[in-house]
Formats: sequence, C-alpha cells, structure tokens
Amino acid sequence: MLQFELLTADSASHARRGRLTLNHGVVQTPIFMPVGTYGTVKGVMPRSLHEMGAQIILGNTFHLWMRPGLDIVKSFGGLHAFEQWDKPILTDSGGFQVWSLGSMRKITEEGVHFQSPVNGDRLFMSPEVSMQIQTTLNSDIVMQLDECTPYETNGHKTTEAEARKSMEMSLRWAARSKAEFERLENPNALFGIVQGGMFEHLRQQSLDALVEMDFPGYAVGGVSVGEPKDEMLSIMAHTPHRLPKHKPRYLMGVGTPEDLVEGVACGVDMFDCVMPTRNARNGTFFTRHGDLKIRNARHKSDHRPIDPSCTCHACAGSEGAAWDAGGRGGFSRAYLHHLDRCGEMLGPMLATIHNLHYYLNLMQEMRDALDAGQFAAFRTRFHADRRRGLD
Ligand code: GUN
Ligand code: ZN
Repeated sequence: MLQFELLTADSASHARRGRLTLNHGVVQTPIFMPVGTYGTVKGVMPRSLHEMGAQIILGNTFHLWMRPGLDIVKSFGGLHAFEQWDKPILTDSGGFQVWSLGSMRKITEEGVHFQSPVNGDRLFMSPEVSMQIQTTLNSDIVMQLDECTPYETNGHKTTEAEARKSMEMSLRWAARSKAEFERLENPNALFGIVQGGMFEHLRQQSLDALVEMDFPGYAVGGVSVGEPKDEMLSIMAHTPHRLPKHKPRYLMGVGTPEDLVEGVACGVDMFDCVMPTRNARNGTFFTRHGDLKIRNARHKSDHRPIDPSCTCHACAGSEGAAWDAGGRGGFSRAYLHHLDRCGEMLGPMLATIHNLHYYLNLMQEMRDALDAGQFAAFRTRFHADRRRGLD
C-alpha cells in the first residue's frame, strides 16, 4: 500500500511538498530518513526518534539477514515489533551493501555470491532472495535489488560500456524483483532504482525502462559513490525531476545539509544518509551556522550549548526550550568536549540527537517554507547562514 499526494509545488524550482501514506503511517515530504542499519539508529531510543519528529527510518536487508537472521525477525512478525518502532520503515535491498564487500563477492546475472563477513558461510543474494527477506521484515518500502555502479575501481574510471552493462543488469533485476514481490503478495510498496553511472543518456534509459515497469515510487542510486561534488550535483539536477510527477522520489545516500536543500530544489522527496549519525560519533555537530568539531581544545571551557537557538535535548535540556544565558537546561560545549575526551557513551548519544534533530528540523523548515510559498527565500537564507560560520 502506498498513496502519494502532491500538496504544493514551488514555482521557481522543482521543489514540492507531499504526503505519503504507507501501511504504518503517514510521512510528510520532503523528508530525511535516519539510518538504522541493524534495526537501531545507533545510540538513540525510539522514543527520542519520536520526540525529534522522525517519521520513517531505514533498515538494511543485508545486515539483518546476517544478524539476527530471518527466523528471529519472523518470530516477532517483522522488524517493527522486533525493534519497537511502529512508524514506517524503508529497507535497502542489500545491493549496495553486498557491493561494498569488495573482493569478498562475485556478481553474476543470477545474483551475488559472497562470503558472510560474520561467519564465513557461502551465501547468495538474488533479486528473489532480497524480496523474500524484505517481505519477512515487512518494511513499508522495499527496494529492488540493484547493482550500484561505482565511479571508479582501483583508479580506473567506469566507462560508458561498463556503466551500460551494469545499468541494464539492474533493469533485469528490477523486473525480477517486481515479479517476486508480486508472487509473495507483499502488501507494502516496491521502489525501482535508477542507475547509469555518470552518463545522462544511460540514466534516462534506466528511468524510462523503470517507468514502463510502473513502480509506486522511484529512487536515484549510484550517487555518493566517490564522484566529485559537481558530478553529484549534475545527476541531482538531471534525474529526479524527470521521474513521474505523482510518485515519490528518493535520492539514496545523500548527503550534507546543503545537498538536502539543493536536492529538494531538484524535486527530491526523500533522503537518507549516515552523515548526521556517523559524524556525531566522530564528534562533528551540524548547525545552521556551519559545523563544529567538539574535539577542538577551544571548546574546553565554553559554557554555551552547541547551538543556543536549537531546541534539541542536547542544546536545550529536557524542557525543550531554547537555552538562555542564565544557564537553564542544555549541555555545554565544555561538557560535551569532556565526554569526548573520556570516551563516554553519552557524548555520541547527545551528538546523534542534536544532528538528527538538525536534519529533521531542516526538512520541517523546508516543508513550512513550501507551504508558505517561500522556498526560494528560504534557500537563499539557508546558504548564507551556513556560510556565516558558528561563533
Ligand atoms: N545506497 C546508496 N546508493 C545506493 C544504490 O545505488 N543502490 C542501493 N540499493 N542502495 C544505495
Ligand atoms: Zn541541538
């Protein structure tokens, strides 16, 4: 089940505001989806995700297949009950993750043969297997199995012929994914994934063939695969707005706050990225005035929170009101610096809460700007603010 309604569109860009209805609830778009690879957004309790306004989170077919394995998830009736998250879940198909194994895998027309990084078992992932796993997980959005075309391999840039071959195989895997998804009578929604490397005519061919197959939603894959920034931006400008207007569009694995704003302007409705969560664990905080590295010694005795205007639990304390100089609520930069120095768990936990709050709030601000017909002004101010830098 999937319904997508377009609510408003920006007149000066491809940005749009929508409402996506899935089996486990409604998602207001454009949206950012926190990554929960192993059935957990690392270090964050589901109730904190609810508090931050997360509407849908990711899971990974490949990782959950390795651990805990399908029998366990099946005994819970699916991933929602197992991980105690009752809102929508999107699962990636495993294509990207198996591909990331490098020399430990062999890709053939039939599927991917690889050795389990967990126990060394010989395993096989095909479009059919991926659909069977994602059906057991009962994710609201299921991704087709695809081959993520690399930007380069061992310093050799992917040629047009290689990108074409890979894209065409992904199309055959799209058709097999769809056939198996239907055979299994999966009640959720399957997305096709556009590939084609850095070649616009190949991306167009991929897109046309997928649209012909009639998926309820589409993703743009093969970005953030080591390409220079300008190439990523040109794919972002090329592909999303050519996808069917009345279906949701998902840009996979992107990106920085700037990428999200530009992605929305290019007509993207959904994003996911490990950046807010992973960078949090490395002590990087995102803010409206640029990024802050808590490890820097200049924060050692600073009483201010990360961003005094932020209302997250880390910056504002449990009251959720913005910090005031009187010292009410909020964790100081000095304290967060200290937690980092000592390797304390609370450090990455608070950083993750702040960064996810920042990403989710940025999407909320874009939705509000679109509703008010103010997206162009928002976009200009956003970039100016980010460049200004943090005190
Ligand atoms: N995550 C980031 N990029 C990709 C991609 O191209 N395919 C899949 N399946 N997942 C991704
Ligand atoms: Zn904050």
